[in-house]
Amino acid sequence: MSEAGILVFGATGALGRHVLDALVVRGTSPETITAAGRNQVRIGELASAGFGTAAVDLSDSAGVADLVARHSDIVLISGRDPDRLAQHESVIEAARNAGVRHVYYTSGVRADDDRFEINADHRATENALIASGVTYTILRNTWYIENYIQALAGPRFTGVLAAATGDAVVAAASRKDLAEALAAVVTTDGHDNVTYSLSGDKNFTYADIAQAMAVVLNREVTYRPVTPDELRAALIGSGMDGELAGFLAGLDETIAAGVFARVGDDLSRLIGRPTTGLVEGLTAE
Ligand SMILES: NC(=O)c1ccc[n+]([C@@H]2O[C@H](COP(=O)([O-])OP(=O)(O)OC[C@H]3O[C@@H](n4cnc5c(N)ncnc54)[C@H](OP(=O)(O)O)[C@@H]3O)[C@@H](O)[C@H]2O)c1
Repeated sequence: MSEAGILVFGATGALGRHVLDALVVRGTSPETITAAGRNQVRIGELASAGFGTAAVDLSDSAGVADLVARHSDIVLISGRDPDRLAQHESVIEAARNAGVRHVYYTSGVRADDDRFEINADHRATENALIASGVTYTILRNTWYIENYIQALAGPRFTGVLAAATGDAVVAAASRKDLAEALAAVVTTDGHDNVTYSLSGDKNFTYADIAQAMAVVLNREVTYRPVTPDELRAALIGSGMDGELAGFLAGLDETIAAGVFARVGDDLSRLIGRPTTGLVEGLTAE
């Protein structure tokens, strides 16, 4: 049986920062949390703030197993590497071998819908976690509002939000909201072997997003739907490499197909308040 304490993989990232904050706000003492990641600067900052820390690469399965075995509760924030599925599976296997109490996994909304290729790793991780027999909670996170902060660059100069998202609606939420939901689940009972689908309260259209950008930028911004081919060409024309441009155009097509449309009210129920709006989310730190 593993020892006490919460191990957070991905603690050095943007969502992880909010997760650590939210756990502390809910009364978890930092020294009972081990913040794991690779970024040495961030790990140093977290150690100075009183957290336990561990520098580990998720591809180091022996290091991961050793770390997992020293904790009772594992928060696995999904990774970003191309082989992240194998990394997630090694965490789950280590958790099963060590007999940990609970694994919490941040998945993607509609992970079980195989029309959406972007969720394939999430779907396979969820299946591995459920099959492991370890007590789990899956939090299927929606699209972050903060993803649109980077997209402010174009509209800032052109007044146009061009995207290949058609008439898509996106029930995006802030990382802070999603982190608070995770912390609520980790620190309260009643979530064993439950999968939550975390959507924002509202289905935003791209016209709504353009309107919020207009407020943030203090200038007129309009949404201009373009085709995936037009978007890919425009991105390549602005200097982006073809592979990334193709990925982003494909992502817009997936958004247009409704992957991030609202799925129930699990998020506002878990955090006990309405979810964050677009303007506030676009100005979040
Ligand atoms: N819902 C959405 O809109 C959305 C968008 C993009 C991504 N995501 C997913 O949500 C996750 C969290 O989002 P975020 O904004 O917090 O991303 P982020 O800021 O890039 O953070 C990713 C975290 O994962 C860690 N990580 C990645 N690969 C690792 C490896 N091989 N070994 C150890 N640690 C590793 C990073 O550690 P270091 O920084 O220390 O290397 C960092 O702590 C992402 O990793 C991705 O799976 C969701």
